[in-house]
Amino acid sequence: MQTNQSVDVLVVGISGNQPLDERLQALYGDKLEEWVRQGDISTKRGELRLLPTLSGDVARVLFVGLGKVDQLSQDDLRRLLGKAAQHVKARRLEHVTVDATTFPGQPVELIAETFTLATYEVKHYKTSPSKAYTLQLTVLPEEEEAVRRGTVLAEATNLARRLVTMPGNLLTAPALADEARFIAERHGHDLRIIDKEEMEALGMGALLAVNQGSVIPPKLIVLEYKGSAEAPIAVVGKGVTFDTGGYSIKPKDGIVGMKGDMGGAAAVLGLFEALGQLKPDVHVIGVIPATDNMISGDAFKPDDVITSMAGKTIEVLNTDAEGRLVLADAVTYVKEYQPKAIIDLATLTGGVLVALGTEITGALTNDASIYERFEQVTKETNEMIWQMPYVDAFIKQVRRSEVADLNNSPGRMGHMIFGGAFVGEFVGDTPWLHLDIAGTSEQNQASEIGPKGATGVMVRSLYRFVEQEK
Ligand code: BES
Ligand code: MN
Ligand code: ZN
Repeated sequence: MQTNQSVDVLVVGISGNQPLDERLQALYGDKLEEWVRQGDISTKRGELRLLPTLSGDVARVLFVGLGKVDQLSQDDLRRLLGKAAQHVKARRLEHVTVDATTFPGQPVELIAETFTLATYEVKHYKTSPSKAYTLQLTVLPEEEEAVRRGTVLAEATNLARRLVTMPGNLLTAPALADEARFIAERHGHDLRIIDKEEMEALGMGALLAVNQGSVIPPKLIVLEYKGSAEAPIAVVGKGVTFDTGGYSIKPKDGIVGMKGDMGGAAAVLGLFEALGQLKPDVHVIGVIPATDNMISGDAFKPDDVITSMAGKTIEVLNTDAEGRLVLADAVTYVKEYQPKAIIDLATLTGGVLVALGTEITGALTNDASIYERFEQVTKETNEMIWQMPYVDAFIKQVRRSEVADLNNSPGRMGHMIFGGAFVGEFVGDTPWLHLDIAGTSEQNQASEIGPKGATGVMVRSLYRFVEQEK
C-alpha cells in the first residue's frame, strides 16, 4: 500500500463483469477468485462484505458489490459509496482507503464527496457525549485536487446541515450573522450586515414587518466573493430562524420543525464556504434576510398594508406567508449590484411538498436558459429540480388587491407558484431562478448520503452552477 499509516479498511468495488484488482491478489492470493465464485464475496449490486486480512498494513477489506458496471448510473454509484461509507462508520473504522480504480470511471471526487456526506453526524445537545467519528480518508490514486474538491463541497453541505439543525433559540438572526462573519473572516469575503436602523432608512418595510413581533433584531447579511470583475450572480436565501406563522399562527404540529426555515440561508453560507476554499474565477453576492416570525402586541397582522423597499405596497392576507416578504426586500436590495442573474432559495411553501414530495425541489423561472443550465448541474449532483409554470394567470392573482399593489397570499390552490410569483414581482428583467426547497431541505428518514434531518440541499449545485458561469 502507498499510504503512510496502517489502514483500518480498504474499500474496493467488485463486479460481475470486470477482472479483480491486483492489489487484492496480493492480500488474498488465489483464494479471492474462489470466494467470489462460491458467492462468499458477492458481486451483486449493493452487497457488502467486510473481511479481515493477514496483512499488517491493511486490516480489512470492504468488498462493495457493483453488479454489472455498464448498467451502473452515477446515482447508483453514489448510493453504493454512501452505503459503504455508512458501513465503515457503523464499525467505527476511521482510517479508510478507497481504491477508486475499482469503481467505474475512477470517481475520485465523488468518493471523497460521498464519504464526507454519508459519515456526517448530527450535532446534539445531550449532556452524555458520544464519541465523534473522524473519517481519515485516502483515495487511490491520490489525485489531490479531486479529493479536495469533493471534500470541500461535502463539508460545505455539512455546514448547511448543521445550521438547519440548530434550534431557533440558539440560531437567531444575530447568530446567523455571526456565522456569516466567521466564514467571511476565514476566507476574506466582503461582509456587510445591515441592521434594523439601516433597514428602516432603506425602507425595507416587508422584512421589518415580519420582524415586528420579535424581541430579536433582524439582520440582512450580505456576502461578496469577487473572483472576477464581471457582473455578479446573486444568490438570495430565506433566513427565517423560526416561523411561528405569526398571527396566522401554525397549528401545534405544524410549528414543530420551523427552526429549519432558514434552509435557503444555510445553502448560501455553504456556498460561500465552498467559494472561500476553492476560489473559482467568479463573482457572487449572497444575501440573507434573517429574522424570526413571532407574535406579540407589536407583530404585524392580517389586513395590514406594508410598503416594500421597492415601493410596492403589499396587503398582508396571511402572516405565515412571510418568506416571500423577506425575500422581496432582499431581492430589491441585491438588484442594486446589477447582478447578471438572481437565484433565490427558500423553504417557502408546504405546497411544494404536496406537488413534488421530498426528493424534488420546485422551481420557477423567467428565463428558460438559466433553468436549463441549472438543471444540467443538478443532474451531476443528483439534486433534482422541476419547473412549475410561471404564467399570467398566477401573476394576476398576486397583483389582486383592493388596497395595495400586491397581496401575499392569493389562496392555497397551486400556492407554491404564488410564493415564487410574488418574489418575481421584485426581480424585474434579470434572469431569475426560484428554488422552493421546503420539501428537500430536510428528510424524515436517513438516506445513503446522510442521516435523517437536514440535507444541505443545493450547496453542491449552487457551487457547480456559479463555477461554470464564468
Ligand atoms: N416556512 C413555511 C413553509 C414550510 C412548510 C416549510 C413546511 C417547511 C415545511 C412558510 O413560511 C409557510 O408557512 N408557508 C405557508 C404559505 C401559505 C400561508 C400561503 C404554507 O405553506 O402553508
Ligand atoms: Mn410561514
Ligand atoms: Zn416560513
